[in-house]
Amino acid sequence: MPHYCTLIPGDGIGPEVAHAAVRAVDATGVDICWKRAELNEAIILESGKTLPQYLLDSLNETRVGLKGPVTTPVAGGFQSVNVALRKALDLFANVRPVRTLPGIKTRFEDVRIDMVIFRENTEDLYSGLEHEIVKDVVTSLKVITRTASERIARYAFNYAKKNGRKKVTAIHKANIMKLADGLFLRCCREVAQQFPDIQYKELIVDNASMQLVMRPETFDILLLPNLYGDIVSDLAAGLVGGLGIVPGANMGETHAVFEAVHGSAPDIAGQGKANPTALMLSSVMLLIHIGETNAAHKLQSSIESVYREGKYLTGDVGGSATTEEFTDAVVRFLKG
Ligand code: NAI
Repeated sequence: MPHYCTLIPGDGIGPEVAHAAVRAVDATGVDICWKRAELNEAIILESGKTLPQYLLDSLNETRVGLKGPVTTPVAGGFQSVNVALRKALDLFANVRPVRTLPGIKTRFEDVRIDMVIFRENTEDLYSGLEHEIVKDVVTSLKVITRTASERIARYAFNYAKKNGRKKVTAIHKANIMKLADGLFLRCCREVAQQFPDIQYKELIVDNASMQLVMRPETFDILLLPNLYGDIVSDLAAGLVGGLGIVPGANMGETHAVFEAVHGSAPDIAGQGKANPTALMLSSVMLLIHIGETNAAHKLQSSIESVYREGKYLTGDVGGSATTEEFTDAVVRFLKG
């Protein structure tokens, strides 16, 4: 029996990196039946809807998705596709492992970075509740609930326990947003008490940002509400070589959608310059999720071998290979 998986190539560099990731996953020998569902800026603008029903139907059938980035139309008041998808399927946990890859030149060459970011995915300032009370006066509501805060905290601690991680750091601004971030922090503390073997720390988000740049190797698991999680993820990506290499997963109770942290990168779309590593590593997470751990390890180590060899890296990480040449190299290691 094949695994069924919804494939959303997206737009911009999405179709290029999605094609590369599918080639790599298929080369592991795992039997996946990809159910392709198109979603891009043109479809959104034409249909006037952020999420077409066929996309939700497909994900409700397969329960697993591999997704390329989708451009959010700036005009027309459209909600971000990603925000809409996470809410529609209740994908409450955004999981982003940020790790040093061999052979990449960064500012932290002699430091090994290995952290996992857990970002609450459904509320906070992404609730979309904005109002113009009177002309030129706007409010944007930050929503924090006990249910969502406890759920993401428990998810992060459970992950830590299962994966032998030592420390969880909750990141907040409860000194200013005493009620909202205060509730988030209270929930994290309560959940932390149920995991006495895992060290629990708290950092205010501005200090955390500085510490991340000064001492990235001291971080293990980061636990954040939505907005700080979004910003800190990109910061962390910059520490290990950029957005081209950082994967991600949106996890819910019943559905999971795997996608890179990066967006549709219109500046390099269609030029064969995109680095598919981030979506390939997202596919490694997908393979683990569907129980294909051998294939996941094979893919992970083939990607690392290409980086170690250093001959076929894309421009964003200091090489000159095309998306296709990098993918050929990964497939060679997979088959070799
Ligand atoms: P972006 O992540 O698309 O690009 C930022 C910079 O990183 C650009 O210089 C780009 O060339 C580079 N970059 C990103 N991914 C790369 C890759 N795989 N290989 C090499 N270089 C890469 O962020 P930006 O420009 O802010 O957003 C563009 C569009 O993407 C927007 O419409 C935004 O709404 C959308 N977006 C979609 C996301 C998703 O669907 N998950 C996530 C983030 C943004």
